[in-house]
Amino acid sequence: MLKRLSVAMVGVVLLGSALAGCGSKDDSTGSGSGDGKIVLGFSQVGAESGWRTANTKSIQDSAKAAGIELKFADAQGKQENQITAIRSFITQKVDVIAFSPVVTSGWDAVLKEAKDAGIPVILTDRAVDSQDTSLYVTFLGSDFIEEGKKAGQWLVDQYKGKTGPVSIVELQGTTGAAPAIDRQKGFADTIAADPNLKIVKSQTGDFTRAQGKTVMETFLQSTPKIDVLYAHNDDMGLGAIEAIEAAGKKPGTDIKIITVDAVKDGMTALSEGKINYIVECSPLLGPQLMDVVKQVKSGGSPEKRILTKETTFTQEQAKTELPNRQY
Ligand code: AHR
Repeated sequence: MLKRLSVAMVGVVLLGSALAGCGSKDDSTGSGSGDGKIVLGFSQVGAESGWRTANTKSIQDSAKAAGIELKFADAQGKQENQITAIRSFITQKVDVIAFSPVVTSGWDAVLKEAKDAGIPVILTDRAVDSQDTSLYVTFLGSDFIEEGKKAGQWLVDQYKGKTGPVSIVELQGTTGAAPAIDRQKGFADTIAADPNLKIVKSQTGDFTRAQGKTVMETFLQSTPKIDVLYAHNDDMGLGAIEAIEAAGKKPGTDIKIITVDAVKDGMTALSEGKINYIVECSPLLGPQLMDVVKQVKSGGSPEKRILTKETTFTQEQAKTELPNRQY
């Protein structure tokens, strides 16, 4: 209890200092930082995965390189913290707000406040389900449905021409988050092509390694036969690998594993044969985001949807790619 309390207090202090770092600008018109720099307020989901850490670094490094003043707030996985951060950015009259929404729904009110204040909002990485698309200027990020489809297609190809049921367990991302919803849908729709492929268990592991391990332990205890694990990100897959090894099974051989992201740790496990296939989701959104921020600030209209280019990796491809992996 005490431990939980102190973790929560650290969270509050961190959020407080992140927002305190959002000091007010000299220029109350919202047209610059006073020293001519564009001011960007960015609300990040948290630090739940290797992907997120790489994404944060990409945004911070790119802002610096582009000469943009970045006011960065870490929401620690909580929507209410993101709403507080966005309201703080509005009060400070930043030039542009960008954020990666932890979940898809519940944004209309705060987005309308930003619109009424004349501050353009850019969605990065994850989408919102707002019907009124005028509440944001663009959405820059991956096609998560496509990622789920790529994962499913690999599995369909693996079992082509084979008979007998294939028992699949799924570790979902954060409940209500766009990548969890879409990766589940893309995968389920694609494997429907083969009636032998059946998802027997599906539960959230909240995109973290720790929960991936815990949930996989329960899957292993409650499911007599598991042929395949589909994890919505590398971190949950890596946690699950620990559980599989602890249960005396060989990941990648006894249980085939498909994950999404392709961060260094995931690619290492893939090259070692512990993961079988990874669908890439690039966290390096910073440079594109800064270009869009500049475009918006100078009165331009970016495309409403800006897609990230991504690929997939087999075990052999991972061996070649690993030395070049930046994150
Ligand atoms: O929104 C992108 C997802 O969020 C990544 O796939 C996952 O690792 C992260 O936490």
